[in-house]
Amino acid sequence: MARTRCDRTAVWSQLQTAYQTTGKGFDVRTAFAQDAQRFARFSQEAPYVFADLSKNRIDVETEALLLTLAVQCGVEEHREAMFAGQKINTTEQREVWHTLLRNPAVALVHSAQEATETIAIHKATEQAKVHTTLDAMLAYAEQLRADAGITDVVNIGIGGSDLGPQMAVLALDAFANTDPAKGGKRLHFVSNVDGHELAAKLPHLNVESTVFLIASKTFTTIETMTNAASAKTWFEAQGGTNIARHFAALTTNVAAANAFGITTTFGFWDWVGGRYSMWSAIGLPIAIAIGAQGFRDFLAGAHAMDEHFRTAPLASNLPVRLALLDVWYRNFHGFTSRSIAPYHSALKRLPAYLQQLEMESNGKRVDASGEALPYGTSPVLWGEPGTNGQHAYFQMLHQGTDVVPLEFVAVKKARHDLKGHHPMLLANALAQAQALMVGKEDAGGHKHFTGNRPSTFLLLDDLTPAALGALIALQEHRVFVSGSLWGINSFDQWGVELGKVLAKDIEPRLASGDVSGLDGSTAGLLARLRA
Ligand code: F6P
Repeated sequence: MARTRCDRTAVWSQLQTAYQTTGKGFDVRTAFAQDAQRFARFSQEAPYVFADLSKNRIDVETEALLLTLAVQCGVEEHREAMFAGQKINTTEQREVWHTLLRNPAVALVHSAQEATETIAIHKATEQAKVHTTLDAMLAYAEQLRADAGITDVVNIGIGGSDLGPQMAVLALDAFANTDPAKGGKRLHFVSNVDGHELAAKLPHLNVESTVFLIASKTFTTIETMTNAASAKTWFEAQGGTNIARHFAALTTNVAAANAFGITTTFGFWDWVGGRYSMWSAIGLPIAIAIGAQGFRDFLAGAHAMDEHFRTAPLASNLPVRLALLDVWYRNFHGFTSRSIAPYHSALKRLPAYLQQLEMESNGKRVDASGEALPYGTSPVLWGEPGTNGQHAYFQMLHQGTDVVPLEFVAVKKARHDLKGHHPMLLANALAQAQALMVGKEDAGGHKHFTGNRPSTFLLLDDLTPAALGALIALQEHRVFVSGSLWGINSFDQWGVELGKVLAKDIEPRLASGDVSGLDGSTAGLLARLRA
């Protein structure tokens, strides 16, 4: 599979020229005035998601060049390689196969048509494992849901073993029964090694009615192991004995979970990246919250987006169009961040989830061959639900010195019946997008809004398990495409290693006071912590 870095394509210099001639001074208001079809041209349907890209600083000519860029970079071949299970995570020699986790069982019959027989057999083998584990995990979820003796489920995990399940459980609250008085389960998430988190939960838990899920791909992550050990100590100190009933492990490292003393395990595989893992056993809290069928719907929604990404022409392929815009903004306009504003309070953890997805995947300074890159990669991703953000940082988005593209996520249908709230919420989302673009030219000085501030509007009809699955798969594929254009490996995360190693060195020094070999600042702070 041939990949070409974006700056080494023939079309790159044409894009540079386009930026200088029309891109730099592009005004979205003028573009709308000149093209009555602009909304139709720059909006589209994808499974469960309608997207309006028309308020962005882009025209048909630039998008055509960007689409050529995708072709010249080999994005389609790269995409095929991912779906076929080639080892595109080259620094770890692993497949990147989260799409297989949501591939319905029926697709097995198609596997014989895969490129080579070896790949087809490998895919069929892995797919069979996926469905066996999925069935077992969903049966366990249903068994737990029916178990009146269990009231609380505590997920202990961090990063991809926390953010995805936590985000989805909150997002799908309307489909979950979390009230033990009505036979539901309260779901808790503990991630931080900061003991304040677990310590605040334990007094409210009953040893006989609590299940701990220890979620860790590697089963070595220090935060999770520390919290798991403390949970087990607490459990035993309270007289708990039945570990098989009260602890389950979600991991690729079943041997380590067994060594820890956990026999109830649900596995997954090294070809599932941590930040792409909520479709695997890591999604168990979601299945406990919304049930087996709900979880299958969640997978089906993601699969529908996978099929869109795999088969739609690039020009109407939503993840591709979003990623091309991301690259246009990052590498030509020089925008360094993107803000995400979910106008739905159930999506409150979406920004945190997307932060890991984008920044851990594409926060890379070298290309896939290890060569330093001459251009920027992952933007800073940040955000809060609307309308809260409007009363915090939107000021900067409207009138600050930096341009920050904003991505709205809105949901047409409300799942509450409080009169007036939802129209007001949606009106605010529309108004903010409008204000950012239109600005206010008629006033000078402090009251002047320059406008022409770009935004994208993603709209779901309803926040169902399937729609959430599709929305997240859309974001995954968009990150894949921008990483592909940048020529990087979006599927490793070596950057988190150094801090882990240094923490191991520092921890015993906090007890011993040994500051030898430390820099002045670290030594000074360490001494102060010991004083
Ligand atoms: O932060 C690094 C990281 O490896 C993430 O990629 C991962 O999601 C997280 O730690 C947790 O890892 P694990 O699931 O192995 O405990």
